[in-house]
Amino acid sequence: KKKQLNEGLLSVPSPEDRISLTPTDGNKGESTVSITVVGASGDLAKKKIFPALFALFYEGYLPEHFTIFGYARSKMTDAELRLMVSKTLTCRIDQRENCGAKMEQFLERCFYHSGQYDSQDHFSDLDKKLKEHEAGRVSNRLFYLSIPPNIFIDAVKCASLSASAANGWTRVIVEKPFGRDSESSAALTRALKNYLEEDQIFRIDHYLGKELVENLSVLRFSNLIFEPLWSRQYIRNVQLIFSEDFGTEGRGGYFDNYGIIRDIMQNHLLQILALFAMETPVSCDAEDIRNEKVKVLRSMRPLKLDDVVIGQYKSHTRGGVNYPGYTDDKTVPKDSRTPTFAAAALFIDNSRWDGVPFLMKAGKALHNRRAEIRVQFRHVPGNLYNKNFGTDLDQATNELVIRVQPDEAIYLKINNKVPGLGMRLDRSNLNLLYAARYAKEIPDAYERLLLDAIEGERRLFIRSDELDAAWSLFTPVLKEIEENKIIPEYYPYGSRGPVGAHYLAARYNVRWG
Ligand code: NDP
Ligand code: BG6
Repeated sequence: KKKQLNEGLLSVPSPEDRISLTPTDGNKGESTVSITVVGASGDLAKKKIFPALFALFYEGYLPEHFTIFGYARSKMTDAELRLMVSKTLTCRIDQRENCGAKMEQFLERCFYHSGQYDSQDHFSDLDKKLKEHEAGRVSNRLFYLSIPPNIFIDAVKCASLSASAANGWTRVIVEKPFGRDSESSAALTRALKNYLEEDQIFRIDHYLGKELVENLSVLRFSNLIFEPLWSRQYIRNVQLIFSEDFGTEGRGGYFDNYGIIRDIMQNHLLQILALFAMETPVSCDAEDIRNEKVKVLRSMRPLKLDDVVIGQYKSHTRGGVNYPGYTDDKTVPKDSRTPTFAAAALFIDNSRWDGVPFLMKAGKALHNRRAEIRVQFRHVPGNLYNKNFGTDLDQATNELVIRVQPDEAIYLKINNKVPGLGMRLDRSNLNLLYAARYAKEIPDAYERLLLDAIEGERRLFIRSDELDAAWSLFTPVLKEIEENKIIPEYYPYGSRGPVGAHYLAARYNVRWG
C-alpha cells in the first residue's frame, strides 16, 4: 500500500487504483460509504461540496455503494434538495459521455434529512435512514461539517453519539476556521476529542488540495536541479501572494470576526510555506510529511507587529461604477478596523533558511486575482556580462514562479542572449503552462480532499500539532493588533493595496513580484 501511495505522487491514479487504497479493501462489494453534508442548505455545500462529489462520481472515483445525505435545519424534501443541487452541477469533461444521465444517477443517490444540529434525536433519525440505505453492508460514514464554527461541537457530539457507523469507520471533515487564536483553537481540539479520535478528524485546508500545491513536493524532491538550490545559499527571498479582485461580498459577517490574517495567512499561505520549506520527509506517508511540516512551523520566529502591514479597502469609483468599501457592507460595523489586506515578513530560524525573508501578502478587493509562490534567487557572483558588455544584468536575478491560480503554471525567469550579432541580454521565461501541456481539466481542490477523506488518506489534512504551531506564530501579533486597535492603511477597491507593503518589503531588500 505504501508503494502505491508513493507512486501515486508521481502519476494520477486511475479510479481503480484509488479505490484499491480504501481501508475497506477486499470488502468492496460488501461495504458502503454514506456521506452526510451537515449544513447542506449553505453556500459552501452548494458551491463546492455537492459539485465535487458529483465530479468524483462522474469520473468513477466513488465506491459502488454510496449514499449522500444533506442535513440542515431548513425544511426540504429529497426532490427539493436534488433541484437545489442540480443547479450547481456541471459536466466539465465531455458532453458526449452522457453527462445528463450521470447527473440523474447521481441525484438519485442524494437524500435530505432536516434536523437541528444539537439534537441527538434528530441525528438518530438520520441514523435510521442511513441504515436503510446501507442495507446490512459494512457501513462507513463521512460527515462534512459545512456549518458555522459555533455549532461544530454540537453537531460532532450528536453525529458521533447517535449516527456513528456501527461496523466501519466514521470520519468528520471540519471546515475552517479552527478557532481564532491559540486558546480557542486548543479548546476546539479538546472538545472535538471528547467525541472523536484524532485520526477521525479531517481538518480541511482546501489550498492543500490545489494541484500546484500538491505538485510542490514533486517539483522539489523528484528533480535534481531544484533541491540543491533550495536554501539560503541560493535563495534570496520567497514570496507567497494571494489576491482577490472582489471584496467580502456576502461574507462580511463571518469575515469581520476573523480578518485576512486568520482567513488566509495563518492557514492557506502558511501551509504552502511549510510544504515549500520542509526537509525531505522519510516517505510520502501522511505522518512523515506532517512531521516535517510541524518542524518547520516550530522553527519559525513568532511574527512581530513591526513586520506586519494591515490595510482595509475603501470605496472607489472607476469607469462610472462605484465599488463599495468594506464597511459599506451592512453586516460589517461602520467603525470596523478588521484588515482585508495584510503583508508580513516571516523567518525560519533553522540552518537551511536562516535570514531568508518569507514575505506573505494577502488581500481582498485588489486589482487582480492570483495565488503565487515566487522564489527570487541570489545574484550571480562575478558579474561577467555587466563587466564586459556594460549591460545591467546584475539587476536580473533568476526567479521561479509557481502560479497556483488562475492559469496554473510554473515558470523560471532566466537571462538570455537576444539573437543577433551583438551581445544583448534580456529576461525570458522557461515556461510550463498547464493548459498547454495537459489536456485534462484540473480537478477542484475539494474533489481531491473529499476523495482522500473517503480513502482515509490524511496527508493533505491538518494535524492538531500543526494547528497549534500555526496559531503560536500568529496569536501574539493578532492580539497586539486588536488590543491596540491598530488602524489599517486604507486602499481603494481594485488597487494594488497599501503602499506600506512596499516599504516592508524594501526593508528586507525585496521587491514584490
Ligand atoms: P453558511 O453561513 O451558508 O451556513 C451553512 C448552513 O448552516 C446554513 O445554510 C444554515 O442552514 C446553517 N446555519 C447558518 N448559520 C447558523 C447559525 N447561526 N446557527 C445554526 N445554523 C446555522 O456557511 P457556508 O456554507 O458559507 O460555510 C460553511 C463552513 O465552511 C463555515 O465554517 C465557513 O467558515 C467554511 N468555509 C466557507 C467557505 C465559503 O466559500 N462559503 C470557504 C471556506 C470555508 P440551516 O439554517 O438550514 O440549518
Ligand atoms: C477561503 C476564504 O478559505 O478561501 C475566502 O475564507 C477566500 O475568503 C477563499 O475567498 C479563496 O479560495 P479560492 O480557492 O477561491 O482561492
